[in-house]
Amino acid sequence: MTWKMVATCPEESKLILAQEGEILGAKVEKLGFRAVYFEVPDLEAFYKFHLQLTTASHLFWIIKEFAAKDDRMLFSQVQRIKWRELFDPAKTFRIDAYISNHPEWTPPELSKRTRQAMQEHFQHHGLPIPHADVEDPDVLICIWLEKGRATVSIRTSGDTLHKRGYRLPGHMAPLKETVAATLLRVLEYDGSRPLYDPMCGSGTIVIEAAMMALGKACLIHRKKNGFGFERLKNFDRTLWQRVQTELREGKKTELLHPIYASDVSEDSVTLTRETALRARVERYLTCSAENFFDTKAPCESGLLVSNLPYGDRLQAAEEMPVFYEKIGDHLKKAYKGWTAALLVSAESPWKSIGLKPTRKIPLVNGSIPVLLLVYEIY
Ligand SMILES: C[S@@+](CC[C@H](N)C(=O)[O-])C[C@H]1O[C@@H](n2cnc3c(N)ncnc32)[C@H](O)[C@@H]1O
Repeated sequence: MTWKMVATCPEESKLILAQEGEILGAKVEKLGFRAVYFEVPDLEAFYKFHLQLTTASHLFWIIKEFAAKDDRMLFSQVQRIKWRELFDPAKTFRIDAYISNHPEWTPPELSKRTRQAMQEHFQHHGLPIPHADVEDPDVLICIWLEKGRATVSIRTSGDTLHKRGYRLPGHMAPLKETVAATLLRVLEYDGSRPLYDPMCGSGTIVIEAAMMALGKACLIHRKKNGFGFERLKNFDRTLWQRVQTELREGKKTELLHPIYASDVSEDSVTLTRETALRARVERYLTCSAENFFDTKAPCESGLLVSNLPYGDRLQAAEEMPVFYEKIGDHLKKAYKGWTAALLVSAESPWKSIGLKPTRKIPLVNGSIPVLLLVYEIY
């Protein structure tokens, strides 16, 4: 059986997500708004997809697509879904509704009618009616309605996929794991050259890089029952465990090229080490406390990737142009032969860096528009 999936992500990174999905063996069906529609060949690939996809925010399994021009059509189509085969009525659920170009409905109405049709299905088959839990449901059902067509799906990712299971609290401005992975993919990082983040904060970029270079599944440390599909009736625990074992055993045990991390803050370096330990990649990272302006390139050439401070804590806003100018000067002085990729807020005074980027890629970190600026330092 093939699995029809929707993977969501920021609009800016959907091509990267589509490419990543194809590399993992899925077929791209179409691109949507902030979404990529995939077809995954079998259940084994479905489980691997959830563990390995680095750039998606959520994954949904499409249960049914149908014409829903009016209430009657919607109700009867939802009622005919074999809900009793999908989940046990003892599980709680929530229904999220999204509408585009359909003025007759509001999302709360659509959610209510879907819930009524689904509950009637259980009742009709003499089963108890499952209860809704808005805060922490076992099963999250989604219904999208667009131009008279409805798509019903289940959110199989569970919690958002940037929650890999290794993050420790403690840094004020961590980069989202999915954004770190996206920028590494944009830069075509695959471990075939040295990598250095000299403003590493909590270490997100170097940890994601180490996992990529080792071919380690980024979500392998998620706790049991952390994925939505683990609460469905068709969950195959034996296959799931085999897939995880295979991925654990299939990763590389050594890096071809080193990964370095440093930060001016001792606390950040400690946090990077502790977080890397939780992600079980600590032995692959070389970490030190250093001011960037005192650093030397750790080797002849490589990829420097860093998420620059946004200027709201360490530096007062008026000091930022000077800080950025110093970064450009130090790159020219100490990093000849390197590629430098700097992630900056789109509103930052990044032009003060004083170098001409060869690439300028718009991305989003949370809700902040950011730019990935790529410089070749000669
Ligand atoms: C936006 S944060 C990086 C966040 C990081 N990518 C993460 O995921 O946690 C910027 C970092 O730059 C560091 N920093 C600021 N000025 C620095 C300097 N002169 N040298 C080295 N690090 C510096 C800060 O301590 C902070 O941890």
